[in-house]
Amino acid sequence: MLSLVTVGTSLAGRMGGGDEPLQFTGKGELVFPEHYREWVWLTSGLGMSYTPTAQESADPRFDNVFVSPAAYRAFVATGTWPNGTVFVLEIRSGQHKGSINQTGHYQGELLDIETHVKKADGTWAFYGFGNEHKAAHAIGHDAACYSCHEQHGAVDTTFVQFYPTLQKVAHEKGTYKEKN
Ligand code: HEC
Repeated sequence: MLSLVTVGTSLAGRMGGGDEPLQFTGKGELVFPEHYREWVWLTSGLGMSYTPTAQESADPRFDNVFVSPAAYRAFVATGTWPNGTVFVLEIRSGQHKGSINQTGHYQGELLDIETHVKKADGTWAFYGFGNEHKAAHAIGHDAACYSCHEQHGAVDTTFVQFYPTLQKVAHEKGTYKEKN
């Protein structure tokens, strides 16, 4: 039975899908998580802006949030993120009036990829990949990424208040921070 489980896991690894362990280069850069599109999708935001002066745009950007599958399963079971969790925030242009679409908005080209990672020691770090898929250094701790996520993220510096299916899980497990 044990060996069967092992075979299943390594097969999934070889096929490129499923769980990818966190991988760093010798220089401590995060390797781009190539298969994130096979991970668990949490939400898509449209025109999400976080500053009071932000203007509404005619073509607001979309963002898509994905999380690594093993971390998702752990969150559903416990309401918290395990070490090794990787999030991808994918930002795409917003478009309108293409093909047969008359009034709606749909997603266009890739503009930016950012990740949020819970490292082996339990601390969180952000990595920005832009529109390239090269390994990236962690963003410095003085960046606004850290303070906004720490102050306003509903669960453990992550924005579970915007991930509808996980909101319910965190409420049930008692890990949801109400004032966010
Ligand atoms: C002023 C607040 C604010 C700042 C600053 C901010 N974020 Fe976020 N971030 C959010 C919100 C709100 C979400 C929820 C998803 C959305 O926007 O659709 C989010 C989601 C994310 C996610 C998805 C995982 C998660 O933690 O929920 C990543 C990855 C991310 N941000 C990266 C970054 C990076 C990198 C920076 C800095 C360059 C940054 N963020 C700065 C508010 C912020």
